[in-house]
Amino acid sequence: MKKIFVTSQYPGESVKRLAEKYDVEVFPKTTLPTQDELLENAKGSVALITTVSDMVDKRVIDLCPDLKIVSNSGVGHENVDIPYATEKGIFVTNTPNVLTETTADLAWALMFSVARRIIEADAYVREGKFSCWHPSLLLGMNIHQKTLGVYGMGRIGTAVAKRGQGFNMRVIYQNRSRNQKAEDETGAAFVDFETLLKESDFIVITAPLNEGTRGRFGLDEFRKMKSTSIIVNVGRGPIIKESELAAALKEGSIWGAGLDVFENEPQVNNELLELKNTVLLPHIGSASIETRERMIGMAVQSVELALSGNIPKYLVNPEVLESKNS
Ligand code: DGY
Repeated sequence: MKKIFVTSQYPGESVKRLAEKYDVEVFPKTTLPTQDELLENAKGSVALITTVSDMVDKRVIDLCPDLKIVSNSGVGHENVDIPYATEKGIFVTNTPNVLTETTADLAWALMFSVARRIIEADAYVREGKFSCWHPSLLLGMNIHQKTLGVYGMGRIGTAVAKRGQGFNMRVIYQNRSRNQKAEDETGAAFVDFETLLKESDFIVITAPLNEGTRGRFGLDEFRKMKSTSIIVNVGRGPIIKESELAAALKEGSIWGAGLDVFENEPQVNNELLELKNTVLLPHIGSASIETRERMIGMAVQSVELALSGNIPKYLVNPEVLESKNS
């Protein structure tokens, strides 16, 4: 029987369905495999179902001479050595669309948590400090009628921007290029990066990581933002220089930060951990039961297609088709 290695456990029935036809091994621990565990378990597989934390490098690929597909459950795919997989004729797929709205919800949850100091307020009650209503207790920032700046107007950015309409916000955005469709759907206005920094009350980062976005937000940028503004990152951690964000928060260049992703995940900058005006989450953007079921459903479907001789739908390396045809 052909072996498929799934690096983590998922809700739903999709993986069980796959196990009816293939020898499916699911990594049994509640943590993801270490690189050594990945190498050991992936060996000899015809398909791998991975996450963005599993480094599918040359060594992993070379241990699987019959590998047909790396099916990444998640929209990001920077964990896979795509040029090498393509050279070897291996499909690489991801799971776009299904997690868009869920991740946009979380971006908004971060906006609210930081702006209205929800985490601090909850701790205040639990610690027994709530003795009376007080007009200056835990004051935060309004969200409605403010300016929302979206950095990265792809699918998730558009979904974040759409929610801004419900809160009567002015929405501006910066993206590699103008996104007319998003403008039509959300009423957002395309602005240059400087304007985004200067005019936004909330900047939400939804961009992917690439050479243009890496380290894009540092102290110089934070100093251009409003001292009352809040930055939220649900894209990729290295887009923000974390030590410079901590410095900006300490000196009051900006008001607060909500992060779901980090520069050196899973490590979190110590200074950020100590600050009260940060809300820090363990990369749970797409972590709803419904969405995780849909993600693994799509990842399994890609495997089924690839192993039955078809082309999977969400190929991130379409060039592989040329190498297969030549
Ligand atoms: C994604 O889908 O890229 C999420 O960040 C999890 O990998």
